[in-house]
Amino acid sequence: MSTLAGKHIVLGLSGGIAAYKSAELCRALVKAGCTVQVVMTEAAEQFMTAVTLQALSGRPVYTSQWDPREANNMAHINLSREADAIVVAPASADFMSKLLHGGADELLSLMCLARPIEQVPLIVAPAMNREMWSNPATQRNVAQLKVDGIHVLDVGQGDQACGETGDGRMLEAEDILEDLEGFFTSKVLAGKQVLVTAGPTYEAIDPVRGITNLSSGKMGFAIARAARMAGADVTLIAGPVSLATPRGVKRVNVRSARDMLQAVLDHVPERGVFIATAAVADWRAANSAEQKIKKDGSGQTPVLSFVENPDILATLAQSVAAQKGALFCVGFAAESHDLLAHATAKRARKQVPLLVGNIGPATFGQDDNALLLVDAQGARELPHASKQVLAVQLIEDIARRMGGAQA
Ligand code: C5P
Repeated sequence: MSTLAGKHIVLGLSGGIAAYKSAELCRALVKAGCTVQVVMTEAAEQFMTAVTLQALSGRPVYTSQWDPREANNMAHINLSREADAIVVAPASADFMSKLLHGGADELLSLMCLARPIEQVPLIVAPAMNREMWSNPATQRNVAQLKVDGIHVLDVGQGDQACGETGDGRMLEAEDILEDLEGFFTSKVLAGKQVLVTAGPTYEAIDPVRGITNLSSGKMGFAIARAARMAGADVTLIAGPVSLATPRGVKRVNVRSARDMLQAVLDHVPERGVFIATAAVADWRAANSAEQKIKKDGSGQTPVLSFVENPDILATLAQSVAAQKGALFCVGFAAESHDLLAHATAKRARKQVPLLVGNIGPATFGQDDNALLLVDAQGARELPHASKQVLAVQLIEDIARRMGGAQA
């Protein structure tokens, strides 16, 4: 379940061509379980109709401070008191300047000014031409809005509707949604460094063939995302998968187990958490051929021999940082049967405080899973759920073990 479920979001639109993305954002918020009340400025209505947003939110849209539907004719008070957050997307340069000066000459800015500042956070997603964005006036306004406690989201970079290219695009709806989910997540790993491995490795036999496995990387990516939302500084070492990098996560792509070990050693924090979700190939070809191994028509098959790969998790679990308790190591076990027995044995063998068992064939490539958390005291099950939900639960569990839990 999303952290946005059950939240009441007032979605404000000011004038900008990015308003078309707000329709998508409205839909995504509703899908995440929010109720959404849309408020539009007159300028926003030049770009998007209130009818569209009423249909998507399932609620009449407010566009005027003189709206007679409110019995007391105080839409700015009533709407802001009900909100868990006000999200202005797009926030134009003009609208941000208005917020900065406490302008209140139409409903949206009036409502932002009238909101109870301690209870109702205000989040803005800027959207404008690159010159407008980089103008010192806008940058000054952004800096001051942040000082005033307003959450200013990043801008995107790329082609702009005006034909120019640069910074200032509004973030995509899915990115804003992810930032909002992060906003409502308790920061149980604030200030902590987390290193995650994910996905399969690929061990070359020759330049066109190799050994790999069915790991999709989804569990590891979900864990990296959950750790980031919990406030951690996250590095994700990813084997060959084509998943999108979670927002705010530093990603390093690798191919083989030896590449993965090197990347892990390059990025391991002196204090923090190491979560090894990657399905690392146990063996690699002893001599990978420089050129493609060809069929010669004789019917003879090539003879392959293997050598064992380094065990990344065991290497880190034996490091000085882990031994003195500064690095908390978490392993995974993908088994096909006898999960508890195998996970318990693996935890002892790898010498890690926490080993997470799952049934590999049932979960590889899927969006859901079930986890068995095995530690020195015994085992606890995280029942069947989406990988993202399980990742959030696992991160909360790890945070509690590290004594940093607030939830
Ligand atoms: O030994 P096995 O592959 O079953 O152990 C699984 C756990 O060990 C996972 O956490 C995996 O990421 C990690 N591992 C590793 N390096 C290896 C093999 C496994 O880090 N070479």
